[in-house]
Amino acid sequence: MTITIKTLEEQEKMRKAGRLAANVLDMISDYIKPGISTDELDAICHKFITEEQKAIPAPLNYMGFPKSICTSLNHVVCHGIPGQRVLKTGDCLNIDITVIKDGFHGDTSRMFFVGKPSIKAKRLSDIAYKSMWLGIEQLADGKYLGDIGHAIQSFVEKNRFSVVREYCGHGIGSVFHEEPQVLHYGKPKTGVKLKAGMTLTIEPMVNAGKKEVKLLPDGWTVVTKDHSLSAQWEHTILITKDGFEVLTLGLDQR
Ligand code: MF3
Ligand code: CO
Ligand code: CO
Repeated sequence: MTITIKTLEEQEKMRKAGRLAANVLDMISDYIKPGISTDELDAICHKFITEEQKAIPAPLNYMGFPKSICTSLNHVVCHGIPGQRVLKTGDCLNIDITVIKDGFHGDTSRMFFVGKPSIKAKRLSDIAYKSMWLGIEQLADGKYLGDIGHAIQSFVEKNRFSVVREYCGHGIGSVFHEEPQVLHYGKPKTGVKLKAGMTLTIEPMVNAGKKEVKLLPDGWTVVTKDHSLSAQWEHTILITKDGFEVLTLGLDQR
C-alpha cells in the first residue's frame, strides 16, 4: 500500500467528513452528565450521524467493533466499547468519532469531564491537548513524520507523563486507516517526508503513569498497565504547500 495524495475534489470531501465528525462531538458535549450511560451516548451519536448527517459511523462493524463510537473512561487508553457503565462525577472520558460521508472519513476525539475534574486529570488532558497541537504545528510539505513524533514526545516527557507506543495516528481518506503510521514519538528528520495533499490524523495517547498498556479480553479495550489515567485528543489534518489545514475543528476551536 502507498500514501495517497488527495485531489482537490477529494480534499473537499475530506473537509466535509471532518466537519461532520467535529459536529458530532459538539452535539454530544451537552449530554455528558452524571447518570447517562456510554450506551446512551452511543445511541444518540448513531441516530445523529445516520439520520441528521446521512453519514455512516465508521467504527460500527469495523473489524468486528460492535458500536458506533469509542468511549474511553479514566484508565482506558483507547477503543473503549460503549456499555451499561453510567457516568459519575469525576470521570474523564474520551469520545472518538469517525464518520464516512461521500466515501471519505473524518476522525476526531476529545476529552470530556463529568463535573469538576481533579487537578491531575485536568493537567493530563491539557498536556495531551497541547502535545497534539505541537505535533500539528510541525506539519508542512517537506517536513518529516519524525519531526511530529519528536515534538509530541519531548513535550509530554518534559512534563513527566508518558506516550503510548502501541497505537498511533494514521493516513486517512477513502480508507479508515491508511499509510503512513503517524507515531507520537521519534527523532527529527526521520521517517516519511510529508507532501501537500496528504491527509492524516494526530492522536497522542498520554498516560499519567507508565507508557505500558494492556488489551482486555474483549479484544478492543486498551487500558494502562499500571491503571493510571490516560488522555487523548485527535484531529484529522490536510497537509498544504505552506503548512496544514485542520479538518475537524469544533465550534470553540475555530
Ligand atoms: N477512531 C479510532 C482511531 O482514531 C479507531 C477506532 S477503530 C474502532 O483511529 F473499531 F475501535 F472503532
Ligand atoms: Co484515528
Ligand atoms: Co479516532
